[in-house]
Amino acid sequence: MNAQSRSLWMERQSPPLDTLVETDRDAQVCIVGAGIAGVSIALALAEAGQRVVVIDRAGIAGGETARTSAHLASALDDRFYRLERWHGADGAQLAARSHAAAIDRIEEWCTRYRIDCDFRRVPGYLVCGDPEHRQEFEREQAAAVRAGLAPERSDNGIGDLAGPTLRFDNQARFHPLSYLAGLVAAARAWGVRFVGAEAVDVDGGTSPGVTLADGSRIGAGAVVVAANVPFHRRFALHTKQAAYRTFVIAARVPAGSVPDMLLWDMEDPYHYVRLQPASDGSEWLIVGGADHKTGQEPRGSDPFGGDPFSELARWARQLCPGFGEPEYAWSGQIIEPIDGLAFIGADPGQRQVYVVSGDSGNGLTHGTLAAPLLTALIRGEGHAWRDLYDPARKRLNATWLEENANAAVQYRDWLGHGDAAAVAMGSGAVVRHGLHRFALYRDDNGELHAFSARCPHLGCVVHWNALERSWDCPCHGSRFGATDGQVLNGPAASGLDPLEVVGENRDDAA
Ligand SMILES: Cc1cc2nc3c(=O)[nH]c(=O)nc-3n(C[C@H](O)[C@H](O)[C@H](O)COP(=O)(O)OP(=O)(O)OC[C@H]3O[C@@H](n4cnc5c(N)ncnc54)[C@H](O)[C@@H]3O)c2cc1C
Ligand code: FES
Repeated sequence: MNAQSRSLWMERQSPPLDTLVETDRDAQVCIVGAGIAGVSIALALAEAGQRVVVIDRAGIAGGETARTSAHLASALDDRFYRLERWHGADGAQLAARSHAAAIDRIEEWCTRYRIDCDFRRVPGYLVCGDPEHRQEFEREQAAAVRAGLAPERSDNGIGDLAGPTLRFDNQARFHPLSYLAGLVAAARAWGVRFVGAEAVDVDGGTSPGVTLADGSRIGAGAVVVAANVPFHRRFALHTKQAAYRTFVIAARVPAGSVPDMLLWDMEDPYHYVRLQPASDGSEWLIVGGADHKTGQEPRGSDPFGGDPFSELARWARQLCPGFGEPEYAWSGQIIEPIDGLAFIGADPGQRQVYVVSGDSGNGLTHGTLAAPLLTALIRGEGHAWRDLYDPARKRLNATWLEENANAAVQYRDWLGHGDAAAVAMGSGAVVRHGLHRFALYRDDNGELHAFSARCPHLGCVVHWNALERSWDCPCHGSRFGATDGQVLNGPAASGLDPLEVVGENRDDAA
């Protein structure tokens, strides 16, 4: 597997981006990022009469939206009893309602714009397989009721998965790239421009705009950073969220062998599952989970023996013994915020700049609910969800302290000792030369690719990700290509500094 693993969804090609023209440089709103968040916001703004340009450096659905598993859930998997602790009972209720409204909006847009994307309402099940989690399960049941979700309990398990379950009605699933293509067509019909360009910084205040990689600028009345993780200089929320790698597999199963549902368990790391119709009349069983913090692969106590995909297949066979060899295996990045809810709203750092980040594994509904919320804020109106998702909210919790203590340890990595051993073919290592650390990758042809190991975001040392063949930063989740050092995931706005490999001994980088 490499850093560019292909998901099941990518078999469907996304619509192309247009070339930037001079009239794009003066929009009412410029949105950076054409994933579900950027495209949904663009459509809602255009419906409200705004002139919008969306830029993306990697194409429509060039980021995590193409790597999702596409559960649409108002039964949030971060647990309602925790959301109550962080946001109060009213906040937990509002969170459930806002995600339910996002699913309604997706359904409504599918109908209004005749989008054929396999959207279907299905029940969602939380299953408590391990008796150790029984107390937490009871707690969650009570909190979910208080949040207004009315889950139905059963103690009969599902398939070979034993244990009590909570059934949540009115959840949904869809094909994310078919949906996005439909939204883009609708937005284009409203006059939205989708153009190829890379943003390197964003300004607000009296002269808002986006600086592009070629040094030119797009001016706008307001800027929305919907790049999954903000990359701009003055964004200060990186310490309030943490990046996790997450994994998915898909294999065909006979139609009807598994109920059409969403299901997730209470293990840590957890597992989840859903179905997707296949073109040959069978169904794809999509199984995901097995997360770990980016740049910090579990070692030693690794419950998966280093292979999250085998672990997912093992788990899938408990639910569906006929689950065969996966035809797709892919990975992606989840951004966990400190308090379970995304940061959607005005950027605390500068006026007229708005952000969407911190998906918490519910980025499809977070990205969708951002559409009415940011449309209201950009137009100077209030919104019932504003305070709940406000990026400036101040709430501390233990996870936040742990995540930051953990990031601080990664900065200390600069002081450690590297191992200058030869780098084997197909693998990478960080080696130390004097005060400097180098990220060295030797490809399958024996060619060495060398970069500074210093993450251009805030200076942590990148780690080699052997499974996905990429350089991953353990501090805030930036990831870089093994052969070109280019950014795969932000917040870094630029790639690793390349180094020339000199001399006959190709292990020498200078
Ligand atoms: C494996 C996996 C499973 C998931 N499962 C679910 C699920 O079941 N339900 C759910 O709700 N959520 C799920 N999520 C989360 C959800 O898919 C994401 O949060 C969501 O798709 C992110 O959408 P986005 O628009 O914010 O970002 P992206 O889709 O990442 O879009 C951001 C865009 O910005 C562009 N960009 C970035 N930087 C720049 C720049 N400097 N200049 C120009 N363009 C730039 C990128 O190219 C990209 O196209 C899952 C995620 C993963 C990885
Ligand atoms: S992502 Fe922040 S230091 Fe690397």
